[in-house]
Amino acid sequence: MDRWEMGSLARLWSSGFPLYRFFRGSCPSFPIKPVLPGVRGADLKKYVIHGGRPLYGKVEVSGAKNAAVGIIPAALLVEGPCRIENIPAISDVDLLLDILRDLGARVRLINRTTVEVDCTDARRQAVPYDAGRKLRASYYLMGAMLGRFGQAEVPLPGGCDFGSRPIDQHLKGFAALGAEVKVEKGYMCAEADGGRMKGSQIYLDVASVGATMNLMLAAVLAKGTTVIENTAREPHIVDLANFLNSMGADITGAGTDMIKIRGVDKLRGGEYSIIPDQIEAGTYMAAVTAAGGEVRVCNVIPKHMECITAKLVEMGAEVEEEGDSLIVRRHGPLQRTNVKTMFYPGFPTDMHPQIAAVLCLANGTSVITEGVWDNRYRYTEEFRRLGAKIQVDGKIAIIEGVEKLTGAPMEACDLRAGAGMIIAGLAAQGTSEISNVKHIERGYEDIIGKLSRIGADIRVVEVPDPERGKVSAAG
Ligand code: EPU
Repeated sequence: MDRWEMGSLARLWSSGFPLYRFFRGSCPSFPIKPVLPGVRGADLKKYVIHGGRPLYGKVEVSGAKNAAVGIIPAALLVEGPCRIENIPAISDVDLLLDILRDLGARVRLINRTTVEVDCTDARRQAVPYDAGRKLRASYYLMGAMLGRFGQAEVPLPGGCDFGSRPIDQHLKGFAALGAEVKVEKGYMCAEADGGRMKGSQIYLDVASVGATMNLMLAAVLAKGTTVIENTAREPHIVDLANFLNSMGADITGAGTDMIKIRGVDKLRGGEYSIIPDQIEAGTYMAAVTAAGGEVRVCNVIPKHMECITAKLVEMGAEVEEEGDSLIVRRHGPLQRTNVKTMFYPGFPTDMHPQIAAVLCLANGTSVITEGVWDNRYRYTEEFRRLGAKIQVDGKIAIIEGVEKLTGAPMEACDLRAGAGMIIAGLAAQGTSEISNVKHIERGYEDIIGKLSRIGADIRVVEVPDPERGKVSAAG
């Protein structure tokens, strides 16, 4: 550690930054062992919420999780340091940084939201099985390693359980780019003929976010030009393309349904700032709509929020745009509506449980149709514990609004379901407890701190080991 790093460290320490992120992997001998949010020990925590209070104040949105988890692996393609700003402090990011360290990257935390990743000396080796299995986005290492080394071995990914989550479009695309692809012993293995990917024409059968981003990563350093058709258009796809272009790539069309990538020989280091998280912003907007009150949601791109804003307004919220902030207020009654989740610019599937939580308290009967995932309804069982009237029929949830919800224990079954449970708990009368919060901490930076600062009565309690999974009378 040099003097500069020691100075940064002292500043980070005094700012309350989670220092374990700095040391893990790079300085194993340092004698600190803090409680790690998210990654380790999180299943021994639960959130306790005393609901029924309106929310007032200001909340700052962090960098986009689903952009960060593509951009961090993308740094593998770059020779030289990449300074990435607006990185969210979430466990999925920590896991990816750990994997990069394991591959030989040098990772330095510059400040609370900035990291410098230098993959100049990264090695061609298999991604460790346990680490890669822990998150969905580890599959981006496949595209990035194929681009950089012409070879990759990455465990089949984990992530939230929404029923079947195939990756056939990723593998089909890698094969089209000249790699021989097989799945063996829990690993995806691919090797490019001649050690370098070759530009190609790819048509995606489904506009998959993951396949679009993965194939961009695999094609950036390919020989020749790649055209991917029927691509997803989510903001994080544009963000990944912008990151790669700022490092010297030649990608056009990101944000449309056809992306063209002219392969280049090399990417150089540079600086990039990740976009704000559309879903995190939407989650706080939904929380204010459900609980009532007035909150300024800062650091958003209002254009990205339109699909969410439109629905919240139908439901009785007022939303005012002011630069990069949205002021959300709700004082009157909540109105019913119908929602269908779709690919961007449609209403995002990752806002499904959060909007369902609001609709549980609306006047009349609402219908939510899930248009992306086979099974995103596991949250409904937990909402019923609060008195919600919600029925599922195939891909449709029918929600009959009730006058009030009453606090109860719930178990987070995935990231956005957990966020929906927090919203339901905030809007309910009485005390709710949410267990299995490791899912929530995978994707929301400091959700407890952010909600507390806008007046929510929410706190974390440690559950002693023998009680794991049980509900106690904490609070
Ligand atoms: N699909 C296929 N074949 C494939 C890939 C996808 O049939 O090879 C299908 C899926 O079964 C699904 C649809 O295509 O029905 C969309 O899947 P997509 O590939 O777009 O999803 P993903 O890349 O696995 C990302 C986000 C998810 C988000 C979806 C949809 C990341 C790491 N994950 O997943 O985010 O729900 O896009 O927008 O970016 C979350 O943040 O909570 C989360 C789950």
